Amino acid sequence: MFRRLRKVFKTLRFRLASTFLLLLMIVLAVVGFAGTKTLQTILENQSEQTLREQLGAMRAYIHFEDQGKPIWFVDPSDTDEESIVGRLKTVFVEATDQGVAVDGSPDPALKGLFDRNTILNELSEMQATHEPVIKTFVGRDRIPYQVISGIMVDGERGRKWYIAQGRSLAEDHAVVRRFTRNFCIFLPITLMVCMIVSWYSAGAALKALQSVEKAAQEITGSNLGLQIQKRGADDELDRLIDSFNQMSARLKQSFEQIRQFSTDVSHELRTPLTAIQGQLEVALFTSSTKEQLQEAIENALQDVERLANLVRALLLLSQSESGQIPTNKASLDLTGLLEDLVDQFQIPAEARNIKLEQIKTEEPVFGECDRTQIERLVTNLLANAIKYTPSGGWVHASAESAGPNVKLIIEDSGVGIPEDHIPHIFNRFYRVPDPNPEKGLGLGLSFVAAIVKAHGGEINVKSQMGAGSRFEVVLPGNATVRTAPELPTLQA
Ligand SMILES: Nc1ncnc2c1ncn2[C@@H]1O[C@H](COP(=O)(O)OP(=O)(O)OP(=O)(O)O)[C@@H](O)[C@H]1O
Ligand SMILES: [Mg+2]
Repeated sequence: MFRRLRKVFKTLRFRLASTFLLLLMIVLAVVGFAGTKTLQTILENQSEQTLREQLGAMRAYIHFEDQGKPIWFVDPSDTDEESIVGRLKTVFVEATDQGVAVDGSPDPALKGLFDRNTILNELSEMQATHEPVIKTFVGRDRIPYQVISGIMVDGERGRKWYIAQGRSLAEDHAVVRRFTRNFCIFLPITLMVCMIVSWYSAGAALKALQSVEKAAQEITGSNLGLQIQKRGADDELDRLIDSFNQMSARLKQSFEQIRQFSTDVSHELRTPLTAIQGQLEVALFTSSTKEQLQEAIENALQDVERLANLVRALLLLSQSESGQIPTNKASLDLTGLLEDLVDQFQIPAEARNIKLEQIKTEEPVFGECDRTQIERLVTNLLANAIKYTPSGGWVHASAESAGPNVKLIIEDSGVGIPEDHIPHIFNRFYRVPDPNPEKGLGLGLSFVAAIVKAHGGEINVKSQMGAGSRFEVVLPGNATVRTAPELPTLQA
């Protein structure tokens, strides 16, 4: 039970809903507190205003009789006046400038207002500030009153009198209490409703996540490429589903590639193995002389060598295709590299009566490449050009700058590649069907493609049947060393 609860606490749904709820609670509490304070201030201001008006009215209704005593003067025929004065008499005090109360509210709860010392203190304060004094006073009935006191002068006799007016704050306090009580009822109800709504809306939003989770669980080797239906909301979850679908498609593609590769490899290995087996069996059962045996072993050895080459090439290719091509990129003099390789290929080219030439630019061309890999790339392209060019033809190799990049071009006047085969020649084991085929594994250009990819470059092929082919490799150039001036070595 406790464990299940802990699991729920950890869910994204719970965290989303509870964060929202917590924020809402804080906001509502602040609003409630600020609301109460504002209401109190408004009521206090209103109360003060009323008191000032009451004090003004009291001054108007008080007259001084012949002995100088203040009395309330009301026109008995005016009922309005009577009721006003009746209200003014609810909370009031009249006292001499010696602090002796002469008249006041009969309510015993308000006895405290007649206290001589308090009256004297207020009188001296008013004399100093020339402002009425406003105070809050709690009566014996525990009801709070707000009281304003002022000075009234009997003009005829030149005597000062202390007068005070007050009003009960019970009503105001009741308003604030009602507001607080209503808010306290409203708060938990709102929170409860929001909790339910946020819990369900978080759950609905995260439902799509569950479909991703379910799909991920269902993926096995046989249903790779599984696609999850998008909801069409174009939100974060749809983007997640999109990424998931793309990942699934990529996984499917690489699994397909591996499957295809294993099929191709087994097929390629079977051919020489069957040949070796056949040759050895024939030798075992039919050869009678030492020469016949020797010839059979030589043939078998040739096939073993082909097999060994194939295994070596496959190993390299599998490394390169899984992105393990080690590229130690550095500034590389491509003109110099072409020169060395063209030199190396002169003998096989001459043997086939092919004119192999390097077309040089004025300035050397520098790339940002891995030497070993680029050597392998050029070797493959040159070997192909020589292999697929008939006697009397030519092969040209050149390097040139192309903006921030560099280009390696190997061109021949050979047999050409049929247009519909060009998109496939970079595939593993792909060879253009030829009635008079040259020996080859169909792997050379797969290496070339992998090396170009590892360098972030591209390769373009143009070919015309019977006229020749042109392989153009674009590689990143070296921005710092366009020309490589030989620095003179300083002699010590
Ligand atoms: N310069 C070229 N001229 C004409 N055809 C070419 C040229 N280069 C490649 N091809 C065609 O592309 C195919 C694939 O080339 P690739 O280098 O991958 O294999 P290969 O040369 O047959 O064998 P490998 O290089 O593995 O020994 C070749 O079989 C050939 O038909
Ligand atoms: Mg080749």
